[in-house]
Amino acid sequence: MRDVAVIGIGCTEFGEHWSTSFRDLFVKAGTLALEDAGVSGEMIDALYVGNMSAGRFVEQEHIGALIADYAGLATKNIPSTRVEAACASGGLAFRQAAIAVASGMEDVVVAAGVEKMTDVGTGASVDMLASAADREWEGFAGATFPGLYAMIATDYMHRYPLTREQLAEVAVKNHENGARNPIAQFRNRITVDTVLSSSLVADPLRLFDCSPITDGAAAVVVVPLERAHEFTDSPVRVLASAQASDTIALHDRRDISTLDATVTAGKRAFAQAGLTHKDIDMLEVHDCFTIAEICAIEDLGFCKKGDAGRLTEEGVTALNGDLPVNTSGGLKACGHPVGATGIKQICEIVTQLRGEATGRQVDAEIGMAHNVGGTGATVVVHILGA
Ligand code: COA
Repeated sequence: MRDVAVIGIGCTEFGEHWSTSFRDLFVKAGTLALEDAGVSGEMIDALYVGNMSAGRFVEQEHIGALIADYAGLATKNIPSTRVEAACASGGLAFRQAAIAVASGMEDVVVAAGVEKMTDVGTGASVDMLASAADREWEGFAGATFPGLYAMIATDYMHRYPLTREQLAEVAVKNHENGARNPIAQFRNRITVDTVLSSSLVADPLRLFDCSPITDGAAAVVVVPLERAHEFTDSPVRVLASAQASDTIALHDRRDISTLDATVTAGKRAFAQAGLTHKDIDMLEVHDCFTIAEICAIEDLGFCKKGDAGRLTEEGVTALNGDLPVNTSGGLKACGHPVGATGIKQICEIVTQLRGEATGRQVDAEIGMAHNVGGTGATVVVHILGA
């Protein structure tokens, strides 16, 4: 296996893109990543594109070929593959690219993610997202993702000492970070009261506990580490790439407020990298709902179960805390174009490790990305190092 490095990153603004098409979103992000890497289109050996549901959001399938075509690579006939694992599609596309380079099969590979969710109404969007849960046992009973994560929050708050205010602090922190990120969908600062007085979506989760519906794309270029210096003086190494799965339905889990796939993928990543928790300087975790960030911090092993709410309230996970979490604003404030989120997490870590996160820079040499599909049926964890 060869060592792998990220040499270029690119991200569109996240938000509602009324005048940019699905394919143009990808082209924007891809072009930024190639420019950043100093790589021309002719040098690309393969493409992996994370996308959850273009078939339903924009009525377009066959995304791998479409993206290669609109990237101007049709006549080069490179392999271009769509990767789907619901909201973990981006993280998984990055993992496939890293595996392709590590194995020696490919040299210059683009991993991207794209989703255009706002061409349909909220009801349709929420229903499409629900297809990443168990349609027969959860969806047909009326459960959507806000509802499923509300069940996790209810169970968690019954068993552990998490207050409603501490949960709100997750959103307050992520909006503070998003306010400093030029690509974030929401760049407004909020208070605990903003969260507590927002509309109830699925008890106990309110509007400001939820990630929004978002359009956006992100792309990165990966190469073997031994070739990275041909392109850049600041390559970022992929120190671990781990993946785990679990039951698709929440009610089949051993414990609904511990995501076992997160626990397992996290352990695998630490073992692969030969690192411990103390070595991780920053985290980008999958906060599709505020409770998800609480569970992620604990299930990755950064504190014991029941402690993440207190740590959030004490500022440990803030930009100037000991363990900054979601410096990008997370899914909550940066936005959550489901197929693109996992790649955006990688972009944020690379930006931080290069020291280029103006206005939200933290002191970091090693970062971890955690990307979840569904309520935890797929989890992908990466560790990156400067
Ligand atoms: N946080 C903060 N504000 C939000 C928001 C969010 N998550 N979602 C929408 N808003 C704001 C909008 O900006 C808009 O503000 P404005 O009136 O000042 O312009 C207002 O709320 C209404 O927006 P709208 O698009 O009509 O919201 P909605 O009620 O249709 O949708 C949710 C809100 C929470 C239902 C929707 O964002 C949602 O389903 N989120 C979860 C997505 C999800 O499940 N992802 C997968 C995770 S596994």
